Amino acid sequence: MLVLGIESSCDETSAAVVSDGARILSNVVASQIALHRPYGGVVPELASRHHLELINTVVTDALREAGVTLDQIEGVAATCGPGLASSLLIGLTFGKALALARNLPFIGINHMEAHLISPWLSAGRAFEPNVSLIVSGGHTMLVHVRAISDHTVLGQTTDDAAGEAFDKVAKLLGLGYPGGPEVEKAAHDGNPTAIPFPRGKLNDPDFDFSFSGIKTSVLYWLRKWEQKEMADGRWQMAASGSPPSAFDAPRPTLPAQTLNDLCASFQQAVVDVLVGKAIAAALAMRVRFVTVSGGVACNGALRDQLAAACRRHGIELLMADRKLCTDNAGMIAGLGWHKLQAGLRSPLDLDAQPNLRLG
Ligand code: KG4
Ligand code: ZN
Repeated sequence: MLVLGIESSCDETSAAVVSDGARILSNVVASQIALHRPYGGVVPELASRHHLELINTVVTDALREAGVTLDQIEGVAATCGPGLASSLLIGLTFGKALALARNLPFIGINHMEAHLISPWLSAGRAFEPNVSLIVSGGHTMLVHVRAISDHTVLGQTTDDAAGEAFDKVAKLLGLGYPGGPEVEKAAHDGNPTAIPFPRGKLNDPDFDFSFSGIKTSVLYWLRKWEQKEMADGRWQMAASGSPPSAFDAPRPTLPAQTLNDLCASFQQAVVDVLVGKAIAAALAMRVRFVTVSGGVACNGALRDQLAAACRRHGIELLMADRKLCTDNAGMIAGLGWHKLQAGLRSPLDLDAQPNLRLG
């Protein structure tokens, strides 16, 4: 069965074709990162307008790259939530219209549920029960996945998502957008033990996360550093007469090594929590596999340290390829294939559900 998948929940317009066994034949992703960069975050109105401009071309490219025509497509899957309402609407409406016009079965897909299967699509392996860590700009959660479409959320962030913390800290440090890759770049030459940032909730018995404390600690550490700089006469007060304190206020430039050490220490604190909680959840659920996906799963330190921790505990680790970590339609088409094969269908009046939850 050839399934066309469409994803437009945030700032990536994507279309993919999968064949039998949810094998990915094409996975075209048009990223809008450059468009939103000047604003330091995703601007919903801009995202929506660009989804509309790109969707036709992206779907056409996905069909061409897969070497198939629209006539050969046997089912359509599109993300229906969670995400930005105005972004979701574009891909979902396109998918439903295509299904209606071609008289094809249609299924609406929960974007987070699709993240759960992306490591398996990536590895081309048959699904097995696992604990899945989803770490992105909007979500940080641990999920016990017993089978496809049979899962329980074990815990999630009670405040900021891990990627959000990376983005906010990068902004605070005057680094670019998105913040994760910039912080990782700086951290590469830094000392991860230089500053002991807190490991929020690491030793709590539950599987929830909290990253706003680490982010605030970085802000306080910077303030203290600024005050010391001023006391030593190396940096002048801002024009207003008081040092900038808001997250987006202008700041003095940190020496390169200090910036690198700060990024490495922050990254290490986040990675310690993600790795510690993922391993604890896998041991508690007695699963053989841990899987990981979402934009933050592109982080090299997280990948390396999670791999080492899993090895120590005799757990098998499946990480989605970087392209399948970030938002893409391959995972939407893949999950869509499984659901359509199982006979599931969504009505064509299915609405976008910006706050759709998992499970
Ligand atoms: O999954 P994703 O592409 O979009 C959603 O949020 O749904 O994730 C984007 C997030 C951003 O917060 C970005 O800063 C973070 O993933 N990210 C990273 C890295 N690459 C992307 N965080 C840490 N290290 C990275 N290398
Ligand atoms: Zn996502």
